[in-house]
Amino acid sequence: MQFRQVQGMHDILPEQVGRWQRLEATFRRVVEAHAFSELRTPLVEPTALFVRSIGDATDIVEKEMFVLEREGESLALRPEGTASAARAFVEHAVHAREPVTRWYYLGAMFRAERPQRGRQRQFHQAGCEVYGDPGPWVDAELMELVLTFLREAGCPELELHVSSLGGPETRARYRDALVAHLTPRAAALSETSQRRLATNPLRVLDSKDPADQAVVAGAPSLLDLLEGDDRAHWDELLASLDSLGVPYVVDPALVRGLDYYTRTLFEVRSSAGGLGAQNTLVGGGRYDAMIGELGGPPVPAIGFALGLERLLLATEGAPAPTGRPRCFVAPLGARARREALGLARELRASGAVVEVDTRGGSLKSLLRRADSLGSRLCLVLGDGELDRGVVQVKDLASHERADVPRGALVEDVRRRLAGAPGSPE
Ligand code: HAM
Repeated sequence: MQFRQVQGMHDILPEQVGRWQRLEATFRRVVEAHAFSELRTPLVEPTALFVRSIGDATDIVEKEMFVLEREGESLALRPEGTASAARAFVEHAVHAREPVTRWYYLGAMFRAERPQRGRQRQFHQAGCEVYGDPGPWVDAELMELVLTFLREAGCPELELHVSSLGGPETRARYRDALVAHLTPRAAALSETSQRRLATNPLRVLDSKDPADQAVVAGAPSLLDLLEGDDRAHWDELLASLDSLGVPYVVDPALVRGLDYYTRTLFEVRSSAGGLGAQNTLVGGGRYDAMIGELGGPPVPAIGFALGLERLLLATEGAPAPTGRPRCFVAPLGARARREALGLARELRASGAVVEVDTRGGSLKSLLRRADSLGSRLCLVLGDGELDRGVVQVKDLASHERADVPRGALVEDVRRRLAGAPGSPE
């Protein structure tokens, strides 16, 4: 009997993990520079949390949750991170400790969707959530943050789509206007959209069905209905993006598949990676009512999440962001090998990434190995070098060679690596 991975859930083998780690490290670096702290929540939550926050007429809640019934309790594998983070925010009364909270998370999410390129049943998100800031400036800051990250990750052809749903009142007025437009045309809609017209009419705008799109093309735009504070929020968001020099597309047809959004909505898409309809890398928006609805005080919130599998597809073949430059230590002979271990320890203590050969081999084979590992420096240590109290430093990028006195080695290596691509300095 041979077992296979569950449909839509994938092993990530060691040879693939390097790209994951580089993306995760770049994400952590960018968000931590924006003062976000990491949150880790359980993979499982009460099913009712997702029903309540994501909405019972959404695809996720209607048909995509992995639900576990156990001892009379209904639990679900988390389909996204926002509801779990909000639950933790309320449960630990975080609002009482600080006026503004900035959290980020990385981890596996689960949705029983039909698997295809860029769509899995277990996938990974990197996300940020901000609580306590009503915007709109922080909204612009988050969009700028995610674009900075995507550019640093080497992702090409990015397009930021923005819209606003207004507050609950505007949304209700828009719902009425949309229903008034769609109802006389309902016969031309697909079966799914006819059903959604009754349960969740805004989702009709999201349909990929050409017949639905034809009907929707003439529908009123929600942005035209924005008034008062909602309009001021939207106008100031666009002004902030303009002043940051962030290019965007105003997209009134933007409808996200979760019901918790209020005001700002955004997505980042990329045409790279052959992702087709799955080309939305990032989804985000404001959800000012959720904390209150989950039993907390009325704290406004905004966030986004990006799909790491989609980002990996979109950056395939792009020059990989270099990891930290490495040093390979090549000792020739037993005496040198003993010495090499201590040398590596000193270099690591100074912050270098070091691999030591401990198996032995010819200088030529060790240099080849250093090169295949992508090392920047190879430190050669043979009996001759030991006798003279030096280490031979070979720069594998510039092909320079120097005999460096043992006592000056750590500083010499630090200086050389500091100038190399991928160096933190
Ligand atoms: P979402 O749009 O459902 O939003 O998902 C965000 C991103 O996760 C998508 O743009 C996509 O890259 C990735 N993703 C979603 N489903 C799959 C899947 N089945 N396979 C692969 N990747 C997928 C949310 O999850 C919200 N929690 C975002 C948010 C945070 N809003 C406010 N804060």
